[in-house]
Amino acid sequence: MTGTERETGTRRLGAPPDPSTLDAAERMGVDELRALQLERLQGTLRHAYDNVPHYRTAFDEAGVHPDDCRDLADLARFPTTSKGDLRENYPFGMFAVAREQVRRVHASSGTTGLPTVVGYTEADLDVWATVMARSIRAAGGRPGDVLHNAYGYGLFTGGLGAHYGAERLGCTVVPVSGGMTPRQVQLIRDFEPRVIMVTPSYVLALIDEFENQGMDPRGSSLRIGIFGAEPWTEQMRCEIEDRLDIEAVDIYGLSEVMGPGVAQECVETKDGLHIWEDHFYPEIIDPITGEVLPAGEEGELVFTSLTKEAMPVIRYRTRDLTRLLPGTARPGMRRMQRITGRTDDMIILRGVNVFPTQIEEVVLRTPGLSPHFSLLLTTRGRMDHLTVQVEARPDTPAERRDPAAAEVRKAVKDTVGISVDVTVVDPETLPRSVGKLKRLVDERDRP
Ligand code: DLL
Repeated sequence: MTGTERETGTRRLGAPPDPSTLDAAERMGVDELRALQLERLQGTLRHAYDNVPHYRTAFDEAGVHPDDCRDLADLARFPTTSKGDLRENYPFGMFAVAREQVRRVHASSGTTGLPTVVGYTEADLDVWATVMARSIRAAGGRPGDVLHNAYGYGLFTGGLGAHYGAERLGCTVVPVSGGMTPRQVQLIRDFEPRVIMVTPSYVLALIDEFENQGMDPRGSSLRIGIFGAEPWTEQMRCEIEDRLDIEAVDIYGLSEVMGPGVAQECVETKDGLHIWEDHFYPEIIDPITGEVLPAGEEGELVFTSLTKEAMPVIRYRTRDLTRLLPGTARPGMRRMQRITGRTDDMIILRGVNVFPTQIEEVVLRTPGLSPHFSLLLTTRGRMDHLTVQVEARPDTPAERRDPAAAEVRKAVKDTVGISVDVTVVDPETLPRSVGKLKRLVDERDRP
């Protein structure tokens, strides 16, 4: 493989699905889709205004009424919704239907305060399974595949969301959830899944476990990996594809909007994620001013649900940073570029904005270093300081460590523009996660 192929990730591409198996919406032209979206948007605004006190108050205060939405562009006149709004209405205050109509709830972990709770009617669960099945098929999964689902089951939307989508597509689901890594490897050997769904950080732990057990991960039955729930880079795609000999594609979603299956990268193009726009309407706004940005510009992703019954969301601010691009594999649906990071994960170091994904790119380009790294923020004097701790690969000679650290330091200085300390540590010494990985440890003094 050449360096260029490594960077672009276009090394190999999977087969597109038979067009006759696509959903009608995936085959729609833009005009037809826009008409459908407007009709659904008008219905959603009315449903939210009539049934959720929060939206009635917020619309009234902003001086807008659902009848003011005559065009998709009119959506920009409506107020945005934040995680704080969901918290203030904890637990069921954002529901637009009687609680008895709600078949299931999910919730965020709530590590930074009250959890946010989301709910689904039977029809919502049906839509979710449909878009998830569509996602798995776009990733290259097919009816009859065995699918190893290592997303966490429970209040997190990953496990159950992927599960019902895979069943809907016609796969044989192995509902392992996260954790018990040696057993996961055993199950992959015994059940021979073709598809795996898991966070990119946890698949690395699975790959390491194959090697620890003396097996070549490339020899496994896995051919397709559907990775999401946390940011990852093109370099990480190459690392995973090479070590596991699979096609690795990106899946995006968030509980407040539905769960996994809001957007999915198609295996035949691997060029960002197609948003399933018949159910989720995207906008990009300036995260500071809230202004809607023109097509193609990077900013904060905002979603409005178009079909949700139990908990419609109007202009939900995801805090995720990306840009919208025209459709390719599904020409009618726009794509979003892979997420750079969340506004919350952004480190501001001496005036420079840094995302963990920028460090990931550098680490993975440096020979001798593994993809396992963590970021430590401390205070030195009155200045914030960032230390990158990264594990050496098991076969890296000891004398390679210092030069590798120096290369990372220089590359971060050259590409990101900040000075960091870099420590190369022994393999298997940094914390692993079985789901979403927390890369940043913040030990700064608080004033
Ligand atoms: O993480 C849903 C999900 C499960 C998506 C499994 C994909 C696979 P939440 O726990 O509500 O839901 O977290 C949502 O995770 O706002 C992003 O910041 C981040 N995220 C999700 N997918 C991606 C991705 C699930 N592909 C939050 N790339 C979102 C980058 C992602 N970040």
